[in-house]
Amino acid sequence: MAHRLSKQLAGKSAIVTGAGRGVGRGIALVLAERGAEVFVTDLDAETANSTAFEIRSSGGRAVAAASDVTDPASIAQAASRAISEFGKLDVCVANAGVIDAGGLREKYYYTDEDWDVTYRVNVKGLANTADAVRQHMQERRQGRIVNIASHGGRTPRGPSLGVGETILPYWVSKAAAIQWTHLLAQQMARFNVTVNAVCPGTLWTPMWEKIAANQRALSPDLADKSPREIFDASVEARQPIARPQTPEDIGRAAAFLASDDAAEITGQALNVNGGAIMN
Ligand SMILES: NC(=O)c1ccc[n+]([C@@H]2O[C@H](COP(=O)([O-])OP(=O)(O)OC[C@H]3O[C@@H](n4cnc5c(N)ncnc54)[C@H](O)[C@@H]3O)[C@@H](O)[C@H]2O)c1
Repeated sequence: MAHRLSKQLAGKSAIVTGAGRGVGRGIALVLAERGAEVFVTDLDAETANSTAFEIRSSGGRAVAAASDVTDPASIAQAASRAISEFGKLDVCVANAGVIDAGGLREKYYYTDEDWDVTYRVNVKGLANTADAVRQHMQERRQGRIVNIASHGGRTPRGPSLGVGETILPYWVSKAAAIQWTHLLAQQMARFNVTVNAVCPGTLWTPMWEKIAANQRALSPDLADKSPREIFDASVEARQPIARPQTPEDIGRAAAFLASDDAAEITGQALNVNGGAIMN
C-alpha cells in the first residue's frame, strides 16, 4: 500500500502556480514525491528555480519558469511550455494568492487597491490559470484542476483575524474562489475534467507573518509577543486540532484530488484546517 501511495501520481504531469515558496512549494514537492513531473511557476523566477532544483535534487523531474497569473498571456505561455516539456498536462494547481496590496503589517482598513489586487490575483488569477489549461484538458478528455482557496472564504468566524478590516477583501476573494470552483466544475464535467478546491486553515508562511505583525502593531497587549507566538496562540484558540497545517499537508490534499482515487469528486471545497471551521 505504501508503494502504491508513493506512486499515486506516477506518469502524471502537473503545473503549480505560486510554487516558489510557502504552500505552493509544499504542493510541488508532494506532487513530485508522489511521482508527478512538475512545472514550477511563480512571479519570482529565482524562488521557482529553487523549488524545481529541490525536486530534481531528490530524484524528481521539474522545470521552472516565471509567470504572472494576473496576465493571461504569461500564464498561458507557462502552460504551453509545460505541455511541450512533458508532452501533456494532467494536473493544474492554481495556488498563487495574495492577502493585500501591501502594508498589511500596519494597516487598520482596507484600501481600494486591496480590493483590486486580491480580486486580480485570487479570483481572476484562478480563471486565467484554468483558461491556460482547459482546452488541452478538454481535448484529452482528462484533467484535474485544484484551486487553493481558504477557509476564510467560508462562514465568517467572528472577530477579524487581523486587528482591523484590512483582510476583508481577501476573504471575499476566497469565497469567490470557491464559487468559481463550483461553476468551472460544472463546465468541465462533461470533458472528464474535475475541478476542486482545497481550503487551507492556518500556516506559518510569509502571508501569516504579515497577519501576526498586524496584530502585534495594532494591539498594545501583544507588544511583548513575537509574531510566531501570536500565530501559535491563534492556532491554539481557534483549532480543535491545535497545531498549524504545513504546506505539505495542503500538498497531500491536492495530491489526493489530483489522483485516480478522486475520479468521482468534483465541485468540492475541502477544508484542511484542523477543524477550525466545519462546513
Ligand atoms: N498561509 C496561510 O495560512 C493560508 C491559509 C489559507 C489559504 N492560503 C492560500 O494559500 C496560497 C499560498 O499562500 P502562502 O501562504 O504560501 O503565501 P505566500 O505569500 O507565502 O506565497 C505566495 C506565492 O505566490 C506568488 N505569487 C503572488 N502573486 C503572484 C502572481 N500574480 N502570479 C504568480 N505568482 C504569484 C508569490 O511570489 C509567492 O511565491 C494562497 O492562495 C493563499 O491565499 C494560505
